[in-house]
Amino acid sequence: MQRSILLILSHPAFERSRANRALLEAVRDLEGVRVHDLYEEYPDFAIDVEREQGLLREHDVIVFQHPFYWYSVPSLLKEWMDLVLEYGFAYGHAGHELDGKWWLSVITTGGGVESYCRAGGNRFTMRELTAPLEQTARLCGMHFLPPFLVHGTHLLNGPQDFRPVGAEYRELVGALRGGRLTPQEVAGRESLNLGGRVLGDG
Ligand SMILES: Cc1cc2nc3c(=O)[nH]c(=O)nc-3n(C[C@H](O)[C@H](O)[C@H](O)COP(=O)(O)O)c2cc1C
Repeated sequence: MQRSILLILSHPAFERSRANRALLEAVRDLEGVRVHDLYEEYPDFAIDVEREQGLLREHDVIVFQHPFYWYSVPSLLKEWMDLVLEYGFAYGHAGHELDGKWWLSVITTGGGVESYCRAGGNRFTMRELTAPLEQTARLCGMHFLPPFLVHGTHLLNGPQDFRPVGAEYRELVGALRGGRLTPQEVAGRESLNLGGRVLGDG
């Protein structure tokens, strides 16, 4: 089964982005992936809620790709969540439109991988810091996949530094689209980063 993918990109200064740009370039030509750039669509934050809900209805996998801002999502994505994930649509007695869809957060961080642990400067793991996103997905009846992470972006320089993670991201999105990866298989993982192993191959 081919799953349709909605990639919701949220970056307030995409023209200056290196990490998110490299990630997007790695997947944007994949068949069955619709890229939806929130800051481009709604520079004045006037989100068209009905349109956004329609897009969610039409897709099976929702990818939220963004930089980590103050241990959270950029403000327009938070506004989008506040408005689009409405009672009666996403949750509540009659709100079942998102039931069974998959949520993948793809997050880039300035902090290095070693900083996201008890002993590190950021003190908490990414799974702990993304708990509000995970629980939001759950409340909406969605399957929250372990996040795909790019840490230490400040230390990555040229396009060559981003190439391996871009290739991994492309493989991940392809696997999600082609049904070679399911939420059950990856439940409990810290992240969907593989360190080179081929997705869906055991
Ligand atoms: C307002 C703001 C808040 C940020 N907060 C964090 C943070 O909480 N943790 C972190 O590791 N990096 C943080 N950063 C660094 C960004 O995550 C990093 O610059 C970004 O992921 C790089 O991706 P890009 O090249 O696509 O912009 C922050 C940056 C900005 C501008």
